[in-house]
Amino acid sequence: METVVSGIRSTGKLHLGNYYGALSNFVKMQNEYNCFFFIADLHSLTTHPAPQDLQSTVRNVVVEYLAAGIDPEKSTIYIQSDVPEVAELYLYMNMNAYLGELERSTSFKDKVRANPNNVNAGLLTYPVLMASDILLHHGTRVPVGKDQEQHLEMTRTFGNRFNHLYQVEYFKEAFAFTYSDKLVKVPGLTGQGKMGKSNGEADCIYLSDAPEVIRKKIMRAVTDSGPTTPHQAKPEAIQNLFDLMKVVSTPDTLAHFEERYNACEIRYGDFKKQLAEDMVRATEPVRTRIDDIAKDEAYIQKVVRMGAEKAQVSARKTIQEVREIIGLKKLY
Ligand code: ADP
Ligand code: TRP
Repeated sequence: METVVSGIRSTGKLHLGNYYGALSNFVKMQNEYNCFFFIADLHSLTTHPAPQDLQSTVRNVVVEYLAAGIDPEKSTIYIQSDVPEVAELYLYMNMNAYLGELERSTSFKDKVRANPNNVNAGLLTYPVLMASDILLHHGTRVPVGKDQEQHLEMTRTFGNRFNHLYQVEYFKEAFAFTYSDKLVKVPGLTGQGKMGKSNGEADCIYLSDAPEVIRKKIMRAVTDSGPTTPHQAKPEAIQNLFDLMKVVSTPDTLAHFEERYNACEIRYGDFKKQLAEDMVRATEPVRTRIDDIAKDEAYIQKVVRMGAEKAQVSARKTIQEVREIIGLKKLY
């Protein structure tokens, strides 16, 4: 069976975009592949989060993963720093990652541009750590968005270079993986394109948002004075709301409001009320599970311990084999 490896940065609460764009796929994958899903807390150190924030965001993501349907019996869900073997592999892989190729990485250049005062070595070698995450478990399929494709190409380069240097067929090539050829894009509520944390609180419906919060956010979403000619093209803000309805409502409901819009008889108040109720309904099961799981400290601890143990078995085997290949043999 092929191995899926995916890391998620531990940046707080998950929103509907994360859910429909990534998590729902993970839930499906766990029935078909040997899956490792981890929370990339080591990667997040490049931006120096406060210690107390780091711990609470990591815990939050674990809870929301479980609530979204990742089954710790089927998948290995773990926290990256619980498997320190990855840091050892990262050290070895750093020995054959070259400055030029790391500097040319698009994400590195973007980050340098965004934060010129924090160009640390961890940021430069971020792709080496990511490659180590994948190679540690011999992952071949990596569910990530388009922005991560270059990192996967680098992962293949580092793995192949290692194989070539030591004349072995050890690491396999990993490729981006998705179920559909068309990636899901959930729009945000503030008309800035895809729903995202960086667009602010009002842009996102979080999986943990209470029904009143969801209703308030939807009712505040910007609309206009309405169409004046039949079958008029929709402005972006309106199209976004229809696209959100496509995600959470039934096809009948969507068809009803499309028809009202096309007949210039849509009442945005009713439209948004319906969208809000359907969103409350769509998120309800996850939300109640978040509340239940968040309270169950013993369960969370059991899950992360079990995940760490399973991931360590795979990691230790790789590290032992890699040391052997490199020639790091004990003299005693
Ligand atoms: P954010 O954009 O909120 O910072 P991340 O970049 O951490 O989210 O994304 C985590 C995962 O969720 C990635 O696989 C990404 O492709 C997916 N994702 C994020 N936002 C959306 C969205 N609006 N629609 C679809 N998928 C999304
Ligand atoms: N770099 C990924 C991101 O920014 C997160 C990540 C770290 C990752 N290690 C990984 C993703 C390994 C897939 C596999 O979203």
